[in-house]
Amino acid sequence: MKPTALITGASSGIGYHIAKWFAKAGYDLIIVARSKDKLLSLQTELQDSNVTVIPHDLSVPNSAYELYQKIRDEGKTVEVLVNNAGFGLSGKFEDTSFETQQKLLHLNMVSLANLTRLFIDDIIHSPYRNVPNGILNISSMAAFLPGPYMAAYHASKAFVQRYSEALAEELTGDGVTVTTLCPGPTQTEFFKRAGNDKIMSSFRDAPEDVARQGFLGFIKGKRVVFPSANIHAAVLFMKLMPSSLLSKMTKKMYTR
Ligand SMILES: NC(=O)c1ccc[n+]([C@@H]2O[C@H](COP(=O)([O-])OP(=O)(O)OC[C@H]3O[C@@H](n4cnc5c(N)ncnc54)[C@H](OP(=O)(O)O)[C@@H]3O)[C@@H](O)[C@H]2O)c1
Repeated sequence: MKPTALITGASSGIGYHIAKWFAKAGYDLIIVARSKDKLLSLQTELQDSNVTVIPHDLSVPNSAYELYQKIRDEGKTVEVLVNNAGFGLSGKFEDTSFETQQKLLHLNMVSLANLTRLFIDDIIHSPYRNVPNGILNISSMAAFLPGPYMAAYHASKAFVQRYSEALAEELTGDGVTVTTLCPGPTQTEFFKRAGNDKIMSSFRDAPEDVARQGFLGFIKGKRVVFPSANIHAAVLFMKLMPSSLLSKMTKKMYTR
């Protein structure tokens, strides 16, 4: 028997590479996203590992509980939860879709929080004491600054950041690691899906590097992980700046 890592958003980008790292480290995997074909192709790629594929949309009400039930129906427990699935929404606020904003808030915040609550007992009571058990939440550099023209996304990541850091402190006595990975711009499907593929297009990190830093940070029990010294320095700078100035800078970047 091996510990199981549940990874949401494993069909592409950062989550796809995080899944490969957990497989390499000897975890069984449960991989979740909407794109069944992409998940099946990752399962084939990881044929030496035990990989369960669950196509599932986490942006709709009750979806975290339904996923929890599907995993229980398979007779499985979850010792590591990677809340990676997420998306952005860019554009003039009144022109953005009500429905899309609702899905964003549900996926990026509600499902993340609900999955964390639903699986925390499994994680706390993990029988596998020789490997880390815990939660790896994917936040963003965006958590540290207001995002005009991407307001809901930035605010959702601020939620992830505070939620995760609070749980990290609260759960430390239970032997549970809670790591928050804060990527900067990363070369994935993210910007195209958000509706603006021009944003910081020449400053993007490779998703495999970002995933590696997140995985290693989790294994080492770190609370907050920045994928590079540059991203860390940028966040330190943001913490020193007045919020009103940060808003103006971000607005400029998103409307360029
Ligand atoms: N790329 C960046 O610059 C960047 C920077 C900071 C933080 N992040 C964060 O990193 C995480 C991963 O994003 P990425 O950059 O790797 O982008 P990505 O390539 O677009 O990957 C997003 C993943 O989330 C899944 N997903 C999207 N909507 C879903 C839904 N409704 N239900 C279930 N799964 C869903 C996608 O799969 P399906 O489409 O198959 O469902 C995909 O596997 C996100 O939380 C994002 O906010 C990204």
